Amino acid sequence: MKKKIVVANWKMNPTTLVEAEKLFDGVKKKASRLSNVQTVLCPPFVYLTELFVTYSGNKIKFGAQDVFWEEKGARTGEISPLMLKSIGVEYSIIGHSERRELGEDNDMVHKKVLAALKAGLYVVLCVGEKERDDNALYLSFLKEELQSALIGVSKNQLNNIIIAYEPIWAIGKGAKAAMQPSDIHEMSLFIKKILVEKYGKSLGLKVPILYGGSVVPTNVETMFSRGAVNGFLVGGASLDVDSFDFILKHVNNN
Ligand code: PGA
Repeated sequence: MKKKIVVANWKMNPTTLVEAEKLFDGVKKKASRLSNVQTVLCPPFVYLTELFVTYSGNKIKFGAQDVFWEEKGARTGEISPLMLKSIGVEYSIIGHSERRELGEDNDMVHKKVLAALKAGLYVVLCVGEKERDDNALYLSFLKEELQSALIGVSKNQLNNIIIAYEPIWAIGKGAKAAMQPSDIHEMSLFIKKILVEKYGKSLGLKVPILYGGSVVPTNVETMFSRGAVNGFLVGGASLDVDSFDFILKHVNNN
């Protein structure tokens, strides 16, 4: 069976280390009881080391919310994949829509993917359309995002790729705005088809596909049973221990 994954994207939260430690403490207790789901925590860069060094368990993996495409040099404010590796971080979110909104384009996302893979990180590659249109142009938009990011990614490296499908219009909007499970299913099939065309059936179908966009305790059940995804990328709900625990447990037990 394919691994089930839940990624917590804390984004630019919380505002103090004390709060971050408290949140981590809560999540740690809950996640440490679950064996059927891989929990990946992506706190802000500044908290990564602090939280990582205090963690002696093995159930939670750590991820960054972004990574730069070069290994070192004169790049003020950037963090390289080698730096992440050196402190024990194993994952990086790449191409999140909130970064694309700040000007990150497909070419930059592509360079980041290659650099992260070269360093041996797992890549949580975010793709998703801004809006839906009657002519289904959003499908070609999504295809382009996916194909451009995967140029030069070898069959071997594909093992380290996780796709997070996040329709931008459904992010951070609350349970009602989240996508219908049948639509998630459809998009997950569409992504699988693109992967199979490029890598063949056996490899293409192995790539985990996550859904992200207003995943909360009240909708996780139908999304997981009918959405045909391997897990979720959770923003807002990952900042509340009980909500995140509910989502984790649901994915773990089903
Ligand atoms: P949300 O965020 O769960 O708050 O909608 C998801 C994301 O942007 O990764």
